[in-house]
Amino acid sequence: FTPPVVQNEPLRHYAPGSPERAGLQSVLTKMQQSLPFEVPCIVNGKPVKSSSTATQVIPHDHAKHLCTYHEADESLLNSAISDALAAKKEWESMPWNDRAAIFLKAAELVSGKYRYEIMAATMLGQGKNAWQAEIDAAAELVDFLRFGVHYVEEIYKTQPPRNAAGVWNRTEYRPLEGFVFAVTPFNFTAIGGNLCFVPAILGNVVVWKPSPGAVYANYITHKIFLEAGVPPSVIQFLPCTNDTAPSFVAKALSHPSFAGLHFTGSTHVFRSLYKEIAIRTGEGKYKGYPRVVGETGGKNWHLVHESAEVKNAVNQSVRAAFEYQGQKCSALSRVYVSSYLWNKQGGFKDLLLAEIKKIKVGSPIEWENFMGPVAGKPAYTKSLSYIQKAKDEGGEILCGGTGDDSKGYYVQPTVILTKDPKSLTMREEIFGPVLTIYVYEDTDFEKTLDLIDETSEYGLTGSIFTSTRSVLIHASHRLINAAGNIYYNEKCTGAVVGQQPFGGSRASGTCDKAGSGSIFGRFLSARSVKENF
Ligand code: ALA
Repeated sequence: FTPPVVQNEPLRHYAPGSPERAGLQSVLTKMQQSLPFEVPCIVNGKPVKSSSTATQVIPHDHAKHLCTYHEADESLLNSAISDALAAKKEWESMPWNDRAAIFLKAAELVSGKYRYEIMAATMLGQGKNAWQAEIDAAAELVDFLRFGVHYVEEIYKTQPPRNAAGVWNRTEYRPLEGFVFAVTPFNFTAIGGNLCFVPAILGNVVVWKPSPGAVYANYITHKIFLEAGVPPSVIQFLPCTNDTAPSFVAKALSHPSFAGLHFTGSTHVFRSLYKEIAIRTGEGKYKGYPRVVGETGGKNWHLVHESAEVKNAVNQSVRAAFEYQGQKCSALSRVYVSSYLWNKQGGFKDLLLAEIKKIKVGSPIEWENFMGPVAGKPAYTKSLSYIQKAKDEGGEILCGGTGDDSKGYYVQPTVILTKDPKSLTMREEIFGPVLTIYVYEDTDFEKTLDLIDETSEYGLTGSIFTSTRSVLIHASHRLINAAGNIYYNEKCTGAVVGQQPFGGSRASGTCDKAGSGSIFGRFLSARSVKENF
């Protein structure tokens, strides 16, 4: 007997003339012809419209809206929480195999029937090109579900040994007592689904506040969950705008049955929620001690040693910094490169600028474009203002440095060369296609390791490029806390579910590792049982 092995969803490549390209194109075209969609709140499986609506703009063509969505207000939030809690008894006592079957069916629906729809929504609404949408909204979402079912099965099987005759010790894996609040980001459709799935598969009920920048793709995910058989009140879908989010979120956190936060977003917002939860917990306002799980910002780095294979280091850096316009939480935004490699003819500098010249920036639904728009006006302004600040600090703009928001929010791939390793763009998160380079003297390699560590307020991802094993191990150890995901001779983006569990420490989050088994433990409350016969 060979146990079934969970495999990653095979990636589709969308080659010119392929049936998969034609399939996705036809769904995209139809979606564009039907704009804008109307997205209600979904409470107890039913659409609820409110008097307040907002729009999800298409970032590559901001005169157009992907959808108009209905905002949840506080009274809808309260009733959604009550109804979810009422549904919890039945959900948590459903046999595990039935809960597993529901989410495995959801994986099949994403992989097949809805693949192109959820990808098209991600391309139009979040500015991803087809390949970026494929690795997110199709493959990663499927992987989260399939691997997640496997991990939970393993957890449930973990039992104390039966170590005494006449006694049966066992562990029951209860969901949390209350509801889990999922606050999800714009940049990965898969994360929206996963932040709800992780608690829900364990028997928790979830109130979902999607990002205004991903409402439509998240709405499709929610529709898939319902179609797969998630009972109507188990995941309540409650969009709201960034303007009303603070009061809406505060209301959810002030509910006495709040039992867990599953968050991906900015460090600043996560810290404010953490503080609110900590204060209320300290005041005994909740039944217990809520679980707080967050994945937040990053200031991710590549360290390129003089012994690195330069072409690989450049290619990996270009992909890490500019794929999806630098808007992955894992995206590269600072490089420390050996002065020998930087300056030599055909070295890092020459190859980097030559590679970037080839990048096509434009609509993400045109197949030839490597880069699309950034998420919206605030993201556009933020990137350009950091470029200006870098210039003010004496940074040299090696390429890019400009934007155009007349139709879509486009920022050119930008490289800043700085002489100050502590300059603003070497330290602060930008979340756009802006890469800052610091060239270190090869004799200062040790100092550079200290520098990276010192300036890593965040600790999400990083990569070391070297062909010398001893350098690799030494640097990796010295930078032990500067990245929760570290890569050797490969880019710092693109963690794969089940292969590189994802998440960082320091200001980057609670390092609970999405795409692994350990995250599930955060939304469980084990009960130990001893029975004498
Ligand atoms: N998990 C995504 C990556 O590693 C964010 O790129």
